[in-house]
Amino acid sequence: MRAGALHGPAFDALCVDVEAYYAGKLARYGATPLGVDWSCEATQHLRFVKLLAVCDFASAFSLNDLGCGYGALAGFLAAHHPAAAVDYLGIDLSRAMVHRARRRYRRRPGVRFVVARGCPRVADYALASGIMNVKLTQPLAVWEAYVRAILAEMHRASRLGFSVNFLTRPARGAPADQLYCPDPSMWERFCVDELGCRVRVLRDYGLRECTLLVWPGEAGARGR
Ligand SMILES: C[S@@+](CC[C@H](N)C(=O)[O-])C[C@H]1O[C@@H](n2cnc3c(N)ncnc32)[C@H](O)[C@@H]1O
Repeated sequence: MRAGALHGPAFDALCVDVEAYYAGKLARYGATPLGVDWSCEATQHLRFVKLLAVCDFASAFSLNDLGCGYGALAGFLAAHHPAAAVDYLGIDLSRAMVHRARRRYRRRPGVRFVVARGCPRVADYALASGIMNVKLTQPLAVWEAYVRAILAEMHRASRLGFSVNFLTRPARGAPADQLYCPDPSMWERFCVDELGCRVRVLRDYGLRECTLLVWPGEAGARGR
């Protein structure tokens, strides 16, 4: 399925490489945190907690999970927010991931998965956990153009807000040249100045990462 500015020659080769990378992880480790390149379930879940802070759980909402992997967030929502009425769409560019996710959450009401590289529907919220971390051998300028396109795509497809996480420094022994560890204030500025959103940056929660919570709002107004 095609969606927004993430299609076109500039990103096609990049996405082929990204898909091959994650398909390799899945083939090796299966539908487990390691199979989506996370070290363990505890940190995978901590990321979900931070990203879901963008959502207002007081009422029902629809959610696009961009880069859903094998759908761990769908399981997390069922376990940790059992009363929440969430219309969940998991989206992944990897067919293998979506195949696993569909098998895992077969016949789960309100849970669907689709192969795509952007958001095929507008929803109340979108979140993306880990999709901008591994740039492989892409030049920095190409990767940052891709990050810009992802943020713009999530903004376009989210009525009430979206959230993303970024690495801030690589783990010891990780291939630092293949990871993307930006200064998050750069993307905070992008969301405020270019997208006209309000942003809150979550840091210091025990991972080498930060989370951006982004709500549509008056241009230039930071924080909540
Ligand atoms: C680090 S894994 C995280 C999976 C899941 N979010 C989780 O936390 O369990 C990143 C996933 O995003 C997918 N992905 C990367 N870029 C994507 C894009 N532009 N559109 C859709 N999926 C993408 C990859 O195929 C991979 O399954």
